[in-house]
Amino acid sequence: MKVLVVGRGGREHALCEKIASSPLVERVYAAPGNPGMKGCAELLPYTEDEHQRLVEWSKKERIGLVVIGPEKPLMEGLADCYREAGIPVFAPSQRAAQIEGSKSFAKELMERYRIPTAKYRVFTDYDAAKEYVEKLDMPVVVKADGLAAGKGVVIPQTHTEAVDALREMLLESRFGEASARVVIEEFMDGEEFSLMALVHGELVVPLELAQDHKRAFDGDVGPNTGGMGAYSPVPQIPAWAVQQAVEEILEPTARAMVQEDIPFTGVLYAGLMLTAQGPKVIEFNARFGDPETQVILPRLECDLVQVILDVLAGRRPELKWSSQAMVGVVMASRGYPGVCAGGVPLPELAGEGQADDVHIYYSGVCQGEHQCLVSRGGRVYLAGCLGDSLRDAREKVYAFLAKHEQPEFFCRTDIGKKAVST
Ligand code: AMP
Ligand code: GLY
Repeated sequence: MKVLVVGRGGREHALCEKIASSPLVERVYAAPGNPGMKGCAELLPYTEDEHQRLVEWSKKERIGLVVIGPEKPLMEGLADCYREAGIPVFAPSQRAAQIEGSKSFAKELMERYRIPTAKYRVFTDYDAAKEYVEKLDMPVVVKADGLAAGKGVVIPQTHTEAVDALREMLLESRFGEASARVVIEEFMDGEEFSLMALVHGELVVPLELAQDHKRAFDGDVGPNTGGMGAYSPVPQIPAWAVQQAVEEILEPTARAMVQEDIPFTGVLYAGLMLTAQGPKVIEFNARFGDPETQVILPRLECDLVQVILDVLAGRRPELKWSSQAMVGVVMASRGYPGVCAGGVPLPELAGEGQADDVHIYYSGVCQGEHQCLVSRGGRVYLAGCLGDSLRDAREKVYAFLAKHEQPEFFCRTDIGKKAVST
């Protein structure tokens, strides 16, 4: 079978690697992918938004399965185009992807079906929002309703900060259309974790847990980023809480989508907080998490493609997980998530001479001369190691990175640290 992965980051690299290892798969394509993926996928000259060209090419090549990584093409209806063309696609429809694309849609759904989440109100009017927030205890959480690349969330500590955030979003259009509506919600205290499930209608197949690190610098300070690293499993979260999250959050959400006549197919990602009242939803995503996917898939010991085909056919697959832990650390260009320069040649990281348990997933790279990869700015790659424990995996990955330090790049030095010291 031929499989197409749409997207170009580290998540898609991890998907391509896993898919390429399937005995069912004769070829993996990435559209557009990045040159760091060439070892496991053939790159296509189509970008994520060229829906018609992607579908036509896939028809011609008789692609047997399409997996879509990023949220944008989902919101723009790429999965619908594939479904209309009769090509199997593991991704939600444009309507179902609203669970990520519109925070107010997700919140209203959770309220209607009593799915545990923070209390909230939605506003489009600045004066009404200001009046409401001035009566609340701090901190609160102010979120742009639409997609803002992980940057549309502010946690003001004072009323002045809260009103400033509302003014920027509602009056000054800080995130454009995405912040024309804001959600103001209760601040939840607790341990955060990511729980993803493969979903088709009411069938919900949970994956192992991961925790990502969204802030740029050690100790969870600095600006929010696309993710600076992740680890799996998450030992601070007890098994009862995971079971509760599956039974009270993921399964009811999948059922709710079916009842609303917006059935969900693909990865339903719940960003959860383990509060004193049990797990509650921070947000839903309609796709594989980045960088969670890069530390979860290498721990999956069965054939991902067979698993996805089973889910698409409504059969519950048996998942087998490695008892090993994985820690993944992102190497980013200095300045990220602000302006940063590219053009830095990368050393040979993967392949010959490297231990098998180091995985490199490229994101911000382009092709340089002599087969060499060159950074493009932003997040450049994630190095991940499997180990017998999180401690062991952490030691391995930081020992590996120490050998490959480059002054133009930086990484966090505390990925997974909290899990090891608790
Ligand atoms: P989001 O984009 O909704 O995932 O929010 C980004 C980050 O803000 C989350 O990963 C949390 O750390 C934090 N956050 C969002 N909502 C809440 C909340 N209601 N209570 C506490 N922290 C939150
Ligand atoms: N790691 C968070 C996300 O994928 O949105």
